[in-house]
Amino acid sequence: MTSPVFGPPFALGDATADPAVREQHFADLAQQLAAARFHNLAYPGFTDITHPALGALLTGQLLNNVGDPYDGGHGHDHTKTYERDVINHLADLFGAPASRWGYVTSGSSEGTDHALWDARLAFPGQEPVVLASTAAHYSVAKACNRHRLTLIHVRTDPGGRMDIGDLRTVLGQFRHRPVVIVATVGTTMTEAYDDVADIATVCDDLAIVRRRIHVDAALSALPLALLPAHERPAFDFSCGATSIVNSGHKFLSTLTPCAVLIYAEPPVLARTPHVPYTGTADTTIGGSRNGHNPLRLWSALSHGLDVHRGRAERSRDLAAYTHDRLLAAGWPASRGPHAMTVVIAQPPARVCAKWVLAPDGTRAHIICKPDTDPAAIDEFVHDLTHPTTVPATPRQPAAAVLPSQVSSEVPA
Ligand SMILES: Cc1ncc(COP(=O)(O)O)c(C=O)c1O
Repeated sequence: MTSPVFGPPFALGDATADPAVREQHFADLAQQLAAARFHNLAYPGFTDITHPALGALLTGQLLNNVGDPYDGGHGHDHTKTYERDVINHLADLFGAPASRWGYVTSGSSEGTDHALWDARLAFPGQEPVVLASTAAHYSVAKACNRHRLTLIHVRTDPGGRMDIGDLRTVLGQFRHRPVVIVATVGTTMTEAYDDVADIATVCDDLAIVRRRIHVDAALSALPLALLPAHERPAFDFSCGATSIVNSGHKFLSTLTPCAVLIYAEPPVLARTPHVPYTGTADTTIGGSRNGHNPLRLWSALSHGLDVHRGRAERSRDLAAYTHDRLLAAGWPASRGPHAMTVVIAQPPARVCAKWVLAPDGTRAHIICKPDTDPAAIDEFVHDLTHPTTVPATPRQPAAAVLPSQVSSEVPA
């Protein structure tokens, strides 16, 4: 099986590129990658916002936000003021109290890792139990493994959300322990939203006060926050979340991986002492941190909320169109409320090879983005209904099946 290979023209060490050859090579690479986007229907890396005004800063300036974002440190080549502005802006949108704390991570996986590590430290001598639905992202199990925390999976309901009845049953067995519930808001495969208000209510009913509710909203936090109040699912700090993580390279189109982790209250890790060498507190998972990402986030957010609301609406409109087209073609497809994702029965191998669809063995999905070309949807539906017309040469290998993605989750 071959994938479109975008690789170097020669192995480093074998030759040296002259500047003109190097320039041409990278120009070709950019063109090939842009063309390949037409076939990427699965992954939620939005690319419609670009950042040309940041060009000189991104390519000619070292920016290292080492250590704590609230503590400048000795160096001047950082963007911590932008980082704090991004955190504050999103914290306001997600209903965080004034006591908020956060930082820009390398991605949502790191954000969840920080939240679970902090929970491990928050209850000395009492190991917290972690609960997450079977549809949670694999980063939750990875973080539990790293921090030696027990993870218990909660079933999902037919809509792909955490089953609150099952949560109540499981939590009832752990009233004597601190608990961390990881709510997924925008599950990886179906974009279902766990109900954070219901989760908090179950904890209250069972008098579980030693608790944290971390919300993994890698894709969906911002598009949901921009919905009218009466349509907005219960996912944020006003519903009981204690921390939320939201990726920048997904909806916000930062074009390099990053995420914004926000806590309602400064975590235990925020009390980590100063490092004399850097002059900042070492409150983050990494030491040196990418200082360009806060600029990319700030650049994306500076377009204003109306622009982002419009992007979310365009994505949902295209998802509705895609869903209709698939059903009209007789292909099993489903889409949850407000979702940009359309879940489909897994297509035949040659269709999966032509299109990037993230198949998991039984299902695949299309995540509609503002710049997803409707012509790609039309061509895809045609391929589904006429698979023998699709060339047999596969374009890319099928995605590996990850245990947490093979769940009982069945989209509504
Ligand atoms: C629900 C969820 N959480 C976490 C992640 C991982 O995010 P990141 O790639 O920013 O680490 C993803 C990525 O697809 C996801 O869907």
